[in-house]
Amino acid sequence: MASIAAGFHALALILFVSVSAMAAPPLKVGYYLYTCPLAELIISKTVSDAVSRNPGMAAGLVRMHFHDCFVRGCDASVLLKSTPGNPAERDHPANNPSLRGFEIIDQAKAQLEALCPMTVSCADIIAFAARDSAHKTGGIYYNVPAGRRDGRVSRLAEVPQNLPPPTFNAQQLIANFARKGLSVDEMVTLSGAHSIGVSHCSSFSSRLYAFNVTFAQDPSLDPAYAAYLKTKCPPPSNANQANPTVPLDSITANTLDNSYYLQLLKLRGLLTSDETLYTSPSTSGMVVNNVKNGFGWSMKFANAMVKMGSIDVLTGNQGEIRKLCSVVN
Ligand code: HEM
Ligand SMILES: *[C@@H]1O[C@H](CO)[C@@H](O)[C@H](O)[C@H]1NC(C)=O
Repeated sequence: MASIAAGFHALALILFVSVSAMAAPPLKVGYYLYTCPLAELIISKTVSDAVSRNPGMAAGLVRMHFHDCFVRGCDASVLLKSTPGNPAERDHPANNPSLRGFEIIDQAKAQLEALCPMTVSCADIIAFAARDSAHKTGGIYYNVPAGRRDGRVSRLAEVPQNLPPPTFNAQQLIANFARKGLSVDEMVTLSGAHSIGVSHCSSFSSRLYAFNVTFAQDPSLDPAYAAYLKTKCPPPSNANQANPTVPLDSITANTLDNSYYLQLLKLRGLLTSDETLYTSPSTSGMVVNNVKNGFGWSMKFANAMVKMGSIDVLTGNQGEIRKLCSVVN
């Protein structure tokens, strides 16, 4: 009797191990080849049209992938709307009102639902859309392993614990990315995404007007660039609630390239988290390398985007395939 029970336990253990291994298969390139063969094409067409109309949308979509993956993994939790009693990621000040491109994801999803219902996850749509945006603005192309499933949870309170603020120094950024399994060089490489898109004045205006007790203006900021920024960003005051935007990379604002790193060399990094990469000994050499080797940087960028896209993903029968990207089924 005892040996039968032991045998049964061994069998149960084997079944359990194989089922749980099956529950979370890895992401795979060409995942929708048989279930929705036009998926990647439909997404890239939707992104391409949207970016042609408004080049800033490419930046929005690249950033959306980052904000999705760093909070609860790449599970499209960033797309879920707040519900009564549950403020969602989407409404945290890091996302609202600056994160853009939601309607592009919704447009792609609507077409995919018409063609292959309940098949393509919102998390995969974000990953493909980020790739297509990098392709369109930087000529950087890479294959996106897919098969992500959508999460059912999104909590505003998880955003500040996971997304780095623009005031972080190099050591803090290194630690933040390390917690997501990304190396120092990958952190510096991915920051190159700031060669496209914009920032609201509120994300850096303390560098212009209220740096510290000794300096009103950040001494690590090129004075000519600071003077230009002051013409774009008025000093914050109660009377003035406006919060304009300026390009993160003032030279080639809509081209994803290594010019971002050249700006850092010139002390024209817009955010503290940008300039620190050059002013910190632990990362300055990587910045210089990326200035010298633009092709090398674009290769590293592609690889780092794939790695970022695999953070804490749900696969197999975890999570769900949402019908609408902004609400759980
Ligand atoms: C290293 C830490 C990072 C920090 C502290 C940071 C912070 C920020 C901030 C504050 C903005 C401007 C938001 C606003 O005020 O409008 C921004 C914009 C942006 N970020 Fe980051 N970011 C980081 C890394 C990344 C990464 C890894 C990516 C993507 C791979 C990324 C992509 C972007 C893009 C494309 C924009 C422009 C968005 C637009 O124009 O809509 N960032 N980031
Ligand atoms: C202000 O910033 C400068 C430059 O980063 C630094 O050297 C100085 O120690 C800071 N002063 C205070 C009071 O924090």
